[in-house]
Amino acid sequence: MNERDLLAAEAQDDALLNTPLTEPAPQLAVEPAMAVAEPELSEAAPEEPIKVSAKGVDFFYGAFQALKSVSIDIPRNRITALIGPSGCGKTTFLRCINRMNDLIDGAFLKGALLIDGQNIYNKDVDVVHLRKRVGMVFQRPNPFPMSIFDNMAYGPRLHGIKKRADLEILIEKCLKRAFLWDEVKDKLNEPGTNLSGGQQQRLCIARVLTVEPEVILMDEPCSALDPVATSKIEDLMMELRNDYTVIIVTHNMQQAQRASDYTGFFLMGELVEFQDTSNLFVVPKKKETEDYISGRFG
Ligand SMILES: Nc1ncnc2c1ncn2[C@@H]1O[C@H](COP(=O)(O)OP(=O)(O)OP(=O)(O)O)[C@@H](O)[C@H]1O
Ligand SMILES: [Mg+2]
Repeated sequence: MNERDLLAAEAQDDALLNTPLTEPAPQLAVEPAMAVAEPELSEAAPEEPIKVSAKGVDFFYGAFQALKSVSIDIPRNRITALIGPSGCGKTTFLRCINRMNDLIDGAFLKGALLIDGQNIYNKDVDVVHLRKRVGMVFQRPNPFPMSIFDNMAYGPRLHGIKKRADLEILIEKCLKRAFLWDEVKDKLNEPGTNLSGGQQQRLCIARVLTVEPEVILMDEPCSALDPVATSKIEDLMMELRNDYTVIIVTHNMQQAQRASDYTGFFLMGELVEFQDTSNLFVVPKKKETEDYISGRFG
């Protein structure tokens, strides 16, 4: 890996691992109105404890509005899939939840985004702590150019766990949780990049688990994987939902149906429909949803 690649990987990994950025991140401009925004009725309000709640979220890249009045209540310890055609704002919405869009010049958010009822865009929110609570897995597996062990130890070390024995216990626990331990236990000192694509993605998920997040965001985590590796990630998601709130963006309708409890359909920056996955794919409420899931556009 050359120096430029390394820097690029580190920039992304900084965010992934919820570490402070080298340069202070530009603060996302938040309209003063959001603090007093009237809660709007959400598109769907499942009768379950809610972990993440968006209330009338508008998001702008400069003059371009990428999200339009998105209101959604995402239940705790469930898997929520976000679907919709390319460019409809799925990634933008996901990145609002751990404030990764803060890194983009000229971007700003209106409305309110709550985790456990607390607005994460309030001035007193510690963004580094927020990114520890809200982990992220990307489309392309991105292990650091270091050993499997050091990949796994990176986050915990930054958060103050230094003793080898403590790290070993934590790393074994998280690799087991990510169904990867048996495949890597004898080669923890080998580079993470030597693993197969599917193993690398499970390593990235295991690495997120080491900092004990509450919410895990996954942006098309299987799009670069074959069906067998994809199925392993889906099994892993099902296992994780007992303890985490998982929000996954996917272009794969079968994946959304197989591996999620709730599904939200985005179209041109709007959340058109959000409901039980089983209902959305069988009896969608909106014609746009029906057209999309039946392959009539997108
Ligand atoms: N950094 C940016 N600056 C300006 N516009 C952006 C930026 N990122 C995304 N956009 C625009 O915002 C809109 C939503 O983009 P986003 O990446 O959220 O879509 P998406 O639903 O994730 O699409 P895909 O399925 O292709 O990943 C698009 O029109 C895109 O061009
Ligand atoms: Mg996207």
